[in-house]
Amino acid sequence: MDLPHVWLWTMLLAFVLTWMIFHFNNQRKKKSMLKLAEAATEEIREGVADIIIVGAGVGGSALAYALAKDGRRVHVIERDMREPERIMGEVMQPGGRFMLAKLGLQDCLEGIDAQKLTGLAVYKDGKEGVLPFPVENNTFPYEPSARSFHNGRLVQRLRQRASSLPNVHMEEGTVKSLIEEKGVIKGVIYKNTTACQETTAFAPLTVVCDGCYSNLRRSLVDSSEEVHTYMVGYIARNSQLYDPKSLHLILSRPMVCIMYQISSDEVRCIAEIPADSVPSMANGEMSTFLKESMAPQIPIQLREIFIKGINDGASMKVVPTKSMSATLSEKKGVIVLGDAFNMRHPLIASGMMVVLSDVLILRHLLKPLENLANVTQVSQVIKNFNDIRKPMSATVNTLGDAFSQVLVASKDEAKEAMRQGCYDYLCSGGFRTSGLMALLGGMNPRPLSLILHIFGITFTSIGHLLSPFPTPLRIWHSLRLFVSTIKMLGHHMKVEGARQMLYPESTPMYHRRYMAATALQLNDDVSY
Ligand SMILES: Cc1cc2nc3c(=O)[nH]c(=O)nc-3n(C[C@H](O)[C@H](O)[C@H](O)COP(=O)(O)OP(=O)(O)OC[C@H]3O[C@@H](n4cnc5c(N)ncnc54)[C@H](O)[C@@H]3O)c2cc1C
Ligand SMILES: *[C@@H]1O[C@H](CO)[C@@H](O)[C@H](O)[C@H]1NC(C)=O
Ligand SMILES: *[C@@H]1O[C@H](CO)[C@@H](O)[C@H](O)[C@H]1NC(C)=O
Ligand SMILES: *[C@@H]1O[C@H](CO)[C@@H](O)[C@H](O)[C@H]1NC(C)=O
Repeated sequence: MDLPHVWLWTMLLAFVLTWMIFHFNNQRKKKSMLKLAEAATEEIREGVADIIIVGAGVGGSALAYALAKDGRRVHVIERDMREPERIMGEVMQPGGRFMLAKLGLQDCLEGIDAQKLTGLAVYKDGKEGVLPFPVENNTFPYEPSARSFHNGRLVQRLRQRASSLPNVHMEEGTVKSLIEEKGVIKGVIYKNTTACQETTAFAPLTVVCDGCYSNLRRSLVDSSEEVHTYMVGYIARNSQLYDPKSLHLILSRPMVCIMYQISSDEVRCIAEIPADSVPSMANGEMSTFLKESMAPQIPIQLREIFIKGINDGASMKVVPTKSMSATLSEKKGVIVLGDAFNMRHPLIASGMMVVLSDVLILRHLLKPLENLANVTQVSQVIKNFNDIRKPMSATVNTLGDAFSQVLVASKDEAKEAMRQGCYDYLCSGGFRTSGLMALLGGMNPRPLSLILHIFGITFTSIGHLLSPFPTPLRIWHSLRLFVSTIKMLGHHMKVEGARQMLYPESTPMYHRRYMAATALQLNDDVSY
């Protein structure tokens, strides 16, 4: 062969070889690219997280921390990462503090200038009673005092603690809706605050914890909230109460006023107002109402601070007081928690305690689950959760309802007698006071115990009505009063479950399950 031919063949061969190498290489690349893309969509479908939590308030942040501690990958989406400013969640009961400690988050109440509250000071018609949380003879295994503080400071601390864990991804964004397929919630559609564009996130389990104004709840349950009254609140600055260690509850007319030290030099003042007659803030009616109708009813030792806040032009906030019984969603792959799930009248300052108790129970129940994608298993967990939370939730929900109804002033003689009876019972000392304070402080989550105290209050009130001697009219009022107590309890029995609340055979069992699930304390001698 002559040289040109050799060259030609060599070049042809080289060309074919190069082409083949290129071709196969490309093919491989394409394949691996395809695989990568498949994996990517798979990852998006499965989500990079095990759990999505909507809302990083008290409940969402605590849950994120608890589940991440157990090794789950948690994606938290919170609308606003700035420190919230509001008049809710400012008092943490002893029971709530204990639960925070059980979650390993007790230090979140430190360094925020939180104030120690050792009990309640109650005022009615010039009389006063001081009611301490029981210190002696209780089985509560934690320091029995409450804390008051700026809610936003606690929330920021909880968020920090959660996002300090490497497996928590905390993102600022607003969740618009839930992604649902055949009755199973697969994830959320949300808008990142900085990116300002809608994106999706997927996870086997979504927790909706978006608070009392929840939008997402509506697509999951049809339970409706009830607005009872409104609370107006403001802060008196540079002020110190004469007794800063008590939460001051004034049984004024038409409704209560509350004052407590919220930081070392600020006092929170709150007045409850009937829903149908909220004075306008814009034209100053509210200030006039507080100064002219409420201030004169405030005990003299507290009045100056109450008025100082108004005169200083402290910014006022009005919030509705709501209640809503807990309803489980039919949808799978989703848990509703916190105020979005269950609310009670805020007079007893227990919302945070309930949500922390719920977080402890959920952590306990979800821990053994290897794969949260098994919807049957998760549904079972949710059912158990709803049962186990009853001792705490039923006690607190009923107590909130009972107090809020009883403490409203009225022209009805029976209702007035009940209001007086409640004051007398609370201030009578001994087991009545300590029993009710233990219930209020979340130190004794036993519905049956609460029911006995409610009857105690009812009979004290009836005793009042019938003395010095029973007339037919007084007997009639007493009967009405008794019936209204039965009605109120009957309502709660219906929504919370009579079995869990009332039956002496089963309540100790529920109590034990509750104590075991929250790891609070196992206490076998169940006494009421
Ligand atoms: C007047 C009043 C006083 C109260 N006082 C007390 C008290 O003293 N002690 C007590 O224990 N409890 C009190 N409570 C109740 C307590 O505040 C609540 O129970 C508690 O804050 C509930 O926590 P949460 O996590 O469910 O909701 P929140 O703490 O309200 O958190 C909800 C979070 O979700 C975020 N969010 C909402 N929608 C979206 C969305 N679409 N996408 C992303 N994020 C979203 C919000 O920004 C917020 O951060 C009070 C309530 C009221 C009304
Ligand atoms: C606590 O119990 C003891 C004995 O049971 C009793 O003597 C004491 O008075 C109790 N204290 C209170 C505050 O009830
Ligand atoms: C969403 O916002 C966070 C800030 O909270 C930012 O760090 C992140 O990159 C954003 N994500 C996307 C997908 O844009
Ligand atoms: C889900 O869990 C149940 C038992 O709890 C089990 O029988 C079932 O096989 C599981 N399903 C899947 C898909 O793993």
